[in-house]
Amino acid sequence: MSMAEVIGMKDVAAPLASGLEGVVVAETRLSEVDGERGKLTLAGHDVEELAGDGGATFEDVCGLLWGGTLPAAAEREAIRGAIAEGRARAFALLGRLGDALQAGDGMDALRAAVAHLGSDAPPAAIAGAVATFAAAWSRRRAGEAPVAPDPALRLSADYLRMVRGAAASEAEARELDTYLVTVSDHGMNASTFAARVVTSTGSDAISAVVAAIGALKGPLHGGAPGPVLDMLDAIGAATGEGGGTGGHAGGAERWIQAELGAGRRIMGMGHRIYRVRDPRAAVLERAIERLGRTSGGARGARLALARAVERAAEAALRARHPDRPLRANVEFYTAVLLDALGLPRALFSPTFAVGRVAGWCAHIDEQRRAGRLIRPSSRYIGGVPGAVGVRSAALTPQSS
Ligand code: COA
Repeated sequence: MSMAEVIGMKDVAAPLASGLEGVVVAETRLSEVDGERGKLTLAGHDVEELAGDGGATFEDVCGLLWGGTLPAAAEREAIRGAIAEGRARAFALLGRLGDALQAGDGMDALRAAVAHLGSDAPPAAIAGAVATFAAAWSRRRAGEAPVAPDPALRLSADYLRMVRGAAASEAEARELDTYLVTVSDHGMNASTFAARVVTSTGSDAISAVVAAIGALKGPLHGGAPGPVLDMLDAIGAATGEGGGTGGHAGGAERWIQAELGAGRRIMGMGHRIYRVRDPRAAVLERAIERLGRTSGGARGARLALARAVERAAEAALRARHPDRPLRANVEFYTAVLLDALGLPRALFSPTFAVGRVAGWCAHIDEQRRAGRLIRPSSRYIGGVPGAVGVRSAALTPQSS
């Protein structure tokens, strides 16, 4: 047998898709990401029509993703009640989570806490639990007692209440719904894929959600909005509170060039699929505008700063990567919106999970129905058995 056969030359010749770009692993009814036109469809609905102006709540999008159609009033109330019960059950579990909620990182806490749920927990129980655990972790981190959920509220209003310890206004709850609906699902993103891989082995929903939380934590996926706010703070401090668009622009350009010069990425910019501006950025930007109108002043200044930073970042990235459009992604305005809603930045990624869990649960169900093990291949470049010393197979394919 030749060494080419021993090391599998067919695999050496096969194209390597290390990021799996362009690889289609599932058929889905849940969402479509059109990266060229900048369109996101959630189960037949344009995200721009559904979220914000469309007035859909988190419960609506759960009904849509879990049942295929937007729920009518009675069904929406049933979903709301089931998720509220999930919050109550999760709150009752807080005393039995060991030191899960003591973790310094909110995603670590969420991962450990969710692992305590029964492996056959249904979607509404999981969704309610993620919100309750995230809020409880944030309270503990601030040295405050967890706030018990209110079964009469919808998830957005109760989440803000459980985090802040005071009732949210309807305008605030509405814009948190805008956010949660906007991020509820997004094609075969890394955390959804992780959930589907685990499900494809025949494993349980909680194992899949725990894996998804782990994937979402990374700064290239759901970990970006905290650093985006750090960036806005740093640029805002350098240009002064009253910098105005002109002042911010100069400061933003200097800060961004320094980051890129140091070999770091600009958080909230760029996307694997979108070659135009992420449509979700526009939805969240409008939500911040609406909130600004209801609360006045400071939020408008923060939005002006964010827009100036976005323009400066786009220009700097265009100059460095003329062939690869790198525009604002969802995380950019997530940072501004969640900050405006009074959520601490350490809670931004867990709040992403509060929304995305709706999509994870739907994908887990879809993957179960597909019933096929996800198991790609790799190209071996390690040592050749029996060779003296360790040689790279890929580098020495003819050696025998
Ligand atoms: N800042 C600076 N450079 C960036 C960049 C960013 N935000 N995003 C991509 N690039 C550069 C890369 O350095 C790379 O340059 P090179 O070809 O000279 O090495 C090029 O653009 C292509 O990047 P690549 O890593 O192949 O793109 P990807 O599809 O794998 O990455 C992201 C997509 C989202 C991971 C990437 O854009 C990123 O890291 N963004 C910042 C983190 C973020 O906002 N994440 C939230 C995503 S919703």
